[in-house]
Amino acid sequence: MTDTPVTHPRQPAEPAHPSGNDLHLDLPATGGRRAALMAALREAIRSGRLAPGTRLPPYRSLAADLGLARNTAAEAYAELVAEGWLTARQGSGTTVAERAEPAPTARARRPSARPGPVHDLRQGQPDAASFPRSAWLAAGRRALTAAPNEAFGPGDPQGRRELRTVLADYLARARGVRTDPDRIVVCSGFAHALRLLFDGAGAVLPAEANGPLAVEGYGLAFHRSLLAAAGVTTVPLPLDENGARIGELTDRPDVRTVLLTPAHQFPTGGPLHAARRAAVVDWARGRGGLVLEDDYDGEFRYDRQPVGAVQGLDPERVVYLGTASKSLSPALRLGWMVLPDHLVDRVLAAKGEREAWASALDQLTLAEFIDSGGYDRHVRRMRRRYRDRRDRLVAALAASAPHVAVSGIAAGLHAVLRLAPGTERSVLKAAAYRGLAVDGLADYRHPALAAGAVPAPDGLVVGYATPPDHAYPAALAALCDILPPPA
Ligand SMILES: Cc1ncc(COP(=O)(O)O)c(C=O)c1O
Repeated sequence: MTDTPVTHPRQPAEPAHPSGNDLHLDLPATGGRRAALMAALREAIRSGRLAPGTRLPPYRSLAADLGLARNTAAEAYAELVAEGWLTARQGSGTTVAERAEPAPTARARRPSARPGPVHDLRQGQPDAASFPRSAWLAAGRRALTAAPNEAFGPGDPQGRRELRTVLADYLARARGVRTDPDRIVVCSGFAHALRLLFDGAGAVLPAEANGPLAVEGYGLAFHRSLLAAAGVTTVPLPLDENGARIGELTDRPDVRTVLLTPAHQFPTGGPLHAARRAAVVDWARGRGGLVLEDDYDGEFRYDRQPVGAVQGLDPERVVYLGTASKSLSPALRLGWMVLPDHLVDRVLAAKGEREAWASALDQLTLAEFIDSGGYDRHVRRMRRRYRDRRDRLVAALAASAPHVAVSGIAAGLHAVLRLAPGTERSVLKAAAYRGLAVDGLADYRHPALAAGAVPAPDGLVVGYATPPDHAYPAALAALCDILPPPA
């Protein structure tokens, strides 16, 4: 099928019309001529190429240009006038009708978001009001001013070298990670890193690291679902006061990879005991397996120096996964993978030829932000602020609910409040009634964690970083209100 494009330059004598553009119509060479002309005109109007008020060429000249019979063009115009697409007025020719544009098809509306809670103590995000807007903007301005032209082209899937270079230094200094820029792959946060590692059910991880993935008995349900969607079976490791029970890995010869939050178990809050950190690396060496280290909030430790990364014990056996989501904002969607040498090319192959996720311009801004000391300053400021929030939470509980034990307070942006057995649901109901959003511990429990073998404590996961400063006292008061009296 060939098309017959015809162009009508606007006649200088004609009055100007809103569009003033050439009329170009594609008519299929075969089929009914009148129907084809009508369809082409409708399409030009629908797509906006012919705006309302646009004057059409006289049907005679259009017929001549398109090689149609005059009657065919005249009839097509007349029918489109009858359908309301065109308007014909004595003396002023045929124009596109003012209302000919079909109303844009209304998109099915998402049900309007429910009003947010009155008080928000859900874990999961840093204080959004404290994002360092001015410092970030200033870093962005400096970064873009200095950026070479190639930075504005398609991105390198490994990430900007400027960012990987400063990250290698920063992670070594602040988190005890051993790496160089070539082992770092920038990604769009931890969730993206998980997708990259597991998409295609093990396409990236070498065959010897495949099989079920051991995870901590408590973790983020969203991450479990993401892994399940990628076809990965997860095996929960029970937790005790020293963190995940690494010893139980020896009972699972089919498991070759384990995902841990060693600096600050999510969400229960303790660090993985030093002996277990060493044990999990020994296990990976002996098994030829891998440790995936989720270092989601490692910067925020209050009682002493942050616990260093397990990756430092063996960079060839540990994949270190970092993110800006807690230290800066989850809106940035920036994270970094520090990979054993043998995984770099595999992860890059999974990312594809061009960076499709992490904005190169945000990467440059983050690089400048870290390099200029802005990141360290922000983390130090937020550490003081979150420690103060944590202290106020502990003080409020001591004053009005001293029977409620609070744990996981040495680090991070959330704490766990233990509740009397069997009360979690009713406390959550009371919270909802009071307009307080807070999570129950049960939501985080791995469904396959054997019920009898490991107690399922009742509790609340309280995100004390979430509200802005001015809203925090009222949120704390609401929390204290809904806690049941001692049994
Ligand atoms: C346990 C855990 N890991 C990682 C992350 C970071 O995820 P992302 O980088 O995809 O925002 C979070 C949330 O911030 C988290 O709670």
